[in-house]
Amino acid sequence: MRSALSRLALVSFAIAAVALAAQASNNLDAWLRYTPLSPEIAKPYEHLPSKIVVVGESPILKNAENELLSGIPKMTGRTLVPSSAIDGSAIVLATLKQAQILVPGLSSSHHSIADGFWITTVKIHRSACLLITASDERGVLYGVFAFLRKITQGESLAHIDEIQHPAARIRWIDQWDNLNGSIERGYGGRSIFFDNGKVRDDLTRAGQYARLLASIGITTCTINNVNAAPQVLDSDFIAQVRRIADVFRPWGVQLSFSVDLSSPKVIGGLDTFEPLDVKVADWWRKKADEIYQEIPDFAGFVVKADSEGRSGPSAYGRTHADAANVIARALNPHGGVVFYRAFVYNHHLDWRNLKNDRARAAYDNFHLLDAKFDRNVIVQIKNGPIDFQVREPVSPLFGDLQSTNKAIELQITQEYTGQQKQLCFLVPMWKEVLDFDMHLPHGHSRVKDIISRTDKPYSGFVGVANVGLDDNWLGSPLALANLYGFGRLAWNPDLSSQQVIDEWTRQTFGNDPLVVQTISKLQLESWPVYESYTGPLGAGTLTNITGNHYDPGPESSEENGWGQWHRADHQGIGMDRTVATGTGYIGQYPAQVQKMYEPLASCPDNLLLFFHHVPWTYVLHSGKTVIQHIYDSHYEGAERAQDFIVRWQNLAGHIDEVRYRDILSRFEFQAGEAIKWRDAICTWAYRMSGIPDQKGRVGTADRR
Ligand code: GCU
Repeated sequence: MRSALSRLALVSFAIAAVALAAQASNNLDAWLRYTPLSPEIAKPYEHLPSKIVVVGESPILKNAENELLSGIPKMTGRTLVPSSAIDGSAIVLATLKQAQILVPGLSSSHHSIADGFWITTVKIHRSACLLITASDERGVLYGVFAFLRKITQGESLAHIDEIQHPAARIRWIDQWDNLNGSIERGYGGRSIFFDNGKVRDDLTRAGQYARLLASIGITTCTINNVNAAPQVLDSDFIAQVRRIADVFRPWGVQLSFSVDLSSPKVIGGLDTFEPLDVKVADWWRKKADEIYQEIPDFAGFVVKADSEGRSGPSAYGRTHADAANVIARALNPHGGVVFYRAFVYNHHLDWRNLKNDRARAAYDNFHLLDAKFDRNVIVQIKNGPIDFQVREPVSPLFGDLQSTNKAIELQITQEYTGQQKQLCFLVPMWKEVLDFDMHLPHGHSRVKDIISRTDKPYSGFVGVANVGLDDNWLGSPLALANLYGFGRLAWNPDLSSQQVIDEWTRQTFGNDPLVVQTISKLQLESWPVYESYTGPLGAGTLTNITGNHYDPGPESSEENGWGQWHRADHQGIGMDRTVATGTGYIGQYPAQVQKMYEPLASCPDNLLLFFHHVPWTYVLHSGKTVIQHIYDSHYEGAERAQDFIVRWQNLAGHIDEVRYRDILSRFEFQAGEAIKWRDAICTWAYRMSGIPDQKGRVGTADRR
């Protein structure tokens, strides 16, 4: 008996081990692994129809069908067969027009929004069917992914009748790939699109990426660096890029380019790129026509101008609106759009002038241009006024430009937040930004309302992703939660961080409650922990800003023109951005917001040093002095990073060995990095302030 039992135990162990090993082998599927559900969770899906009928033929619908044919059996063990006729219960995929032919009288009143979908149960030829429908094929595909996601979460599908619409029309990803195959601020390997100045021969990964993007409702991908090589607009390059558009299209993903404003001169043979010159306008028009010949569903251009050394309209005394509009007019007849980035600033600022302030730049450059942009121009605004720091206030431009289309730019690639070597789940940060109320007089003024406004033809979300050829896309398995989370928030910014991470974890690691709980909690804590040992109190950039943007380097922020100053000296720290005595930056916010940030008494601790210069001994709302807070938070943060290792170790045997070990070694590395940061910043703060730690951890050796 005992040996029979141990044989049974051995067999179950072997089955579990095989299942876990299989989980590790499909990293490229990211969150679309369709991990087998436990028998209890799978049970209710026994009643799903076993046939699938697709009405109509198209590559997008074919992909939708294949996704169901592979996903449902993998998760539930049920087989599903394609069928050409509805003669019994079936899952039916059809656009609304087709569905209305099958089900006369099917109501369509709610479903006209592009990309939205409807999943419902209907009778077709007297059989109970599950219908996934939408006004267009892309919507059907999104509906299929949503349906499969429900199964991964173990949601009930009995009597399902659900309509979903995206919050915003713009849901774009920007890649910063260079034509030589490197990626600016990319930490996941080389480009999936380019190598050696050409489009790659093998675009398999580009197609797989499009599948991931489609699964989270992303419509468009900009394939090249915002610091754009003019050569992307060369005729022979456009012909090559067409191949990328071809692998995107079956997933409903459209393609766009970043372009350099000087292209008409640099590659076009003109003697100028002056936006108001008719020759220049003509050049852009012909270039747009040529692109649409090759890529009829081309989405548009992204423009970075007059920023960090890029050419721009200032060369001719013209405005950003002039520059945006000349391109927009070329794209307009084809339905294309221009994203004009508000990331415009002078990186040669005089640091000795205490009134200078890089944070002011976007507002100062764009404020007077409201209503001057064409209808198909979108001003693309980074979430904060500086540059994707671990904590920044919301850009004041979101409260301005009332007549202009606006999109928020969020950075998925963790340039200043650990570069995917350290865990930093950014969804909670993005939620704070999106939920922030600009207190505009007409209401509906949370950032998420502003960028989802339906009275503008285009508004929404752009995420800078920078995936690469690495097996894990972003170079680290847990970092993929940021890409997933970006897409989910762009679809529905009301989702909570907890919901997003639970979904992602179940899809990526399966439904074991210990695994789901542990990973979700680690992810949710990771941004505050990272912040606590790298940049507390909104101090700005303590990272090495002239070098790798990763290591501690508080001195590198000062005494140069980049303007990422924290103004620390032996008396105090922080940028005075008040209206009363500082740079006046706070005055760019609507009145109610100014009221919160201008007085020290109401400024939140976590942004204190962003807005105010205070003595090291200034007492925070928390009751601690600034200097003691810096010591304490760095020590606590480093301890919590250490604790991540122990918590991860609880998962031994619960997830596959390959991912378990990989992630364990990353947490071990992070714990060391946290100590490195703790010691560097605490030592620096002590040297600056001369005030030792009350708890005797910093500065005591010197006193002896
Ligand atoms: C950051 C980043 C640059 C990038 C720039 C941008 O400054 O370090 O590499 O080009 O942002 O967003 O344009």
